[in-house]
Amino acid sequence: MLRWGGGLLLLAARVASADPCKILIESNDVMRFNMREMSVPATCSEVEVTLKHTGQLSAKAMGHDWVLAKDSDVSAIVNAALAVGAAHSYLPESDRRIIAATKIVGGGESTTVKFSTSALVRGNHYAFFCTSPGHASLMRGKFLFGEGDRIAKTD
Ligand code: CO
Repeated sequence: MLRWGGGLLLLAARVASADPCKILIESNDVMRFNMREMSVPATCSEVEVTLKHTGQLSAKAMGHDWVLAKDSDVSAIVNAALAVGAAHSYLPESDRRIIAATKIVGGGESTTVKFSTSALVRGNHYAFFCTSPGHASLMRGKFLFGEGDRIAKTD
């Protein structure tokens, strides 16, 4: 009981000290993000996502980006990214299905995107993923908007 209580206190302290509207996500040389799920409270009017590539490989060999879209739009965006190719950094420009996207980074680099949450609807299913060719099957996770609030309330 004591250990459990202490753990909760520690967790509460950590949550209080970090800005929940700013998220750091890492990627690496073996085609992975370091999280499968990210959660943003509905109270965030803007979200800032920083993608860090902790590997050594170049952007050409193992470049990653962080793209946010509705879960149901991911396949179409990945195909569109493949179609525009390396010349357009595997990102279809002015594609309205893309809610937010960073540029592609290689090992040792970081990139940040800031976006408004006005396009997000609570309860909708969103996904983040990488549009480098073949990456999205491994580099894809859930993006929860306003879902964490509900989880917090049940604690
Ligand atoms: Co990638």
